[in-house]
Amino acid sequence: MTTDTNKTAIVTGSTRGIGLSIANGLAKDGYNIVVCGRSQETCDSSAKEISTKYGVKTLGIAVNVSKQSEVSDLVKQAISEFGSIEVLINNAGITKDNLVLRMSEDDWESVIQVNLNSIFYFTKAVIRSMMKKRFGRIVNITSVVGVMGNPGQSNYAASKAGMIGFTKSIAKEYGSKGITCNAVAPGFIDTDMIESLPKDYIDNIISQIPVKRLGEPTEVSNVVSFLTSDKSSYITGQVINVDGGVLM
Ligand SMILES: NC(=O)c1ccc[n+]([C@@H]2O[C@H](COP(=O)([O-])OP(=O)(O)OC[C@H]3O[C@@H](n4cnc5c(N)ncnc54)[C@H](O)[C@@H]3O)[C@@H](O)[C@H]2O)c1
Repeated sequence: MTTDTNKTAIVTGSTRGIGLSIANGLAKDGYNIVVCGRSQETCDSSAKEISTKYGVKTLGIAVNVSKQSEVSDLVKQAISEFGSIEVLINNAGITKDNLVLRMSEDDWESVIQVNLNSIFYFTKAVIRSMMKKRFGRIVNITSVVGVMGNPGQSNYAASKAGMIGFTKSIAKEYGSKGITCNAVAPGFIDTDMIESLPKDYIDNIISQIPVKRLGEPTEVSNVVSFLTSDKSSYITGQVINVDGGVLM
């Protein structure tokens, strides 16, 4: 959608699933891409694949998004390589499901750390670079579960709801600096995250989706491409559901 080839996007959790699809979509739009995930090997292979396919510059950096020092080092490395960061997609996320009575403190804390604290670390690290350029696009990948709640997912739902409050606050803090911040809330998308669920559970979910199927990662990344393009310049602080009608 944008043809500017001098802009760079960081996409967290972009070694597979929705994040990989977003990274491909933004590379197709002309952005240089910083691929990040937990293993250097998969970051490197995804980065190489994307640069070969779309002819943009890429950089693969392994990071634990729940560690502020690692996030800050990653952003410094990306800025020294590309000069500035125009787009941040906070996509990395995990689930550790259980009923609250059986949920360990570790399972609560790791989901909040990876899904929610990480977006504070990344946003804080990139915002100066965006302010200098008076241009920035931040998209946080939340979930319909953050709005609806879900039994067995209190940690995940709390992290995703927190992302929505953060998104609206950043939109208000930096709107006057040319920076937009929006959230995309996928419903049930066909990725490794969903594959671990039992088949009868997925069949039951599908029966409740008005379009009667799971979503594809590209159906999420297409919306992210729109939100990072010039076509969405007057949209900020919004939550866009991509869910086949589950939440309406
Ligand atoms: N799949 C769905 O149905 C669905 C629905 C709603 C929201 N989402 C959200 O979309 C995002 C992507 O989901 P997905 O289905 O592609 O998941 P996935 O499990 O396929 O991929 C997750 C990515 O995050 C990375 N990651 C996880 N923990 C990390 C850490 N500590 N440090 C660095 N990277 C880490 C992984 O390496 C991987 O690249 C998540 O935030 C998820 O909550 C997914």
